[in-house]
Amino acid sequence: MNLIFATNNLHKLEEVSTMLNKSIVLSTPKQWGIVDDIPEDQLTLEGNALQKVRYVHERLRENCFADDTGLEVEALNGAPGVRSARYAEQAKSMQDNMEKLLREMAGVANRNARFRTVIALILHGKEHLFEGEVKGEILCEKMGCKGFGYDPVFRPLGYEVTFAEMDLNEKNSISHRGKAVRQLVNFLNQCAG
Ligand code: IMP
Repeated sequence: MNLIFATNNLHKLEEVSTMLNKSIVLSTPKQWGIVDDIPEDQLTLEGNALQKVRYVHERLRENCFADDTGLEVEALNGAPGVRSARYAEQAKSMQDNMEKLLREMAGVANRNARFRTVIALILHGKEHLFEGEVKGEILCEKMGCKGFGYDPVFRPLGYEVTFAEMDLNEKNSISHRGKAVRQLVNFLNQCAG
């Protein structure tokens, strides 16, 4: 089955590619000539995932999916949440986003947080949603250099290391995106079976 992953994020692409069955041939919007930024300006992860997948589906009419992820920090009332990519405002880097988070969390005792991923799939014209989450805590400093995004400051519950200190398979086995992708894969397998 051919499936387009509506993302320009090569880290996400790598994470998801390693989890899909060989029978699924993954491609990206860029490979189909869509080079513009895919819009994601909704107020929820679900809204953004649907906006991204609809944008690509309207143009290509192919089966496709998109994910949207947010880091939700308890002491910050769920922030940065849906604004995770732009926490330090537009055009700021991931380093700026992490620095802002560490500043906001300085001296805060409650470090509880979770990553949440929503995947929106359009298969043969019908929309489906899948969700995954992982609970953990925000460290006081960055640890590790693997992964991407907020990985260096997030330590999943029950682990001594951050996502940025894990290899890809270990992160996928417990992560928000890993859980959502496994649901997607199970669903696709059922459809194929
Ligand atoms: P989006 O799903 O691309 O909109 O992601 C929102 C923000 O969360 C971006 O800043 C990403 O870098 C960050 N992010 C998404 N997935 C992960 C992850 O698995 N680990 C750490 N940060 C992530």
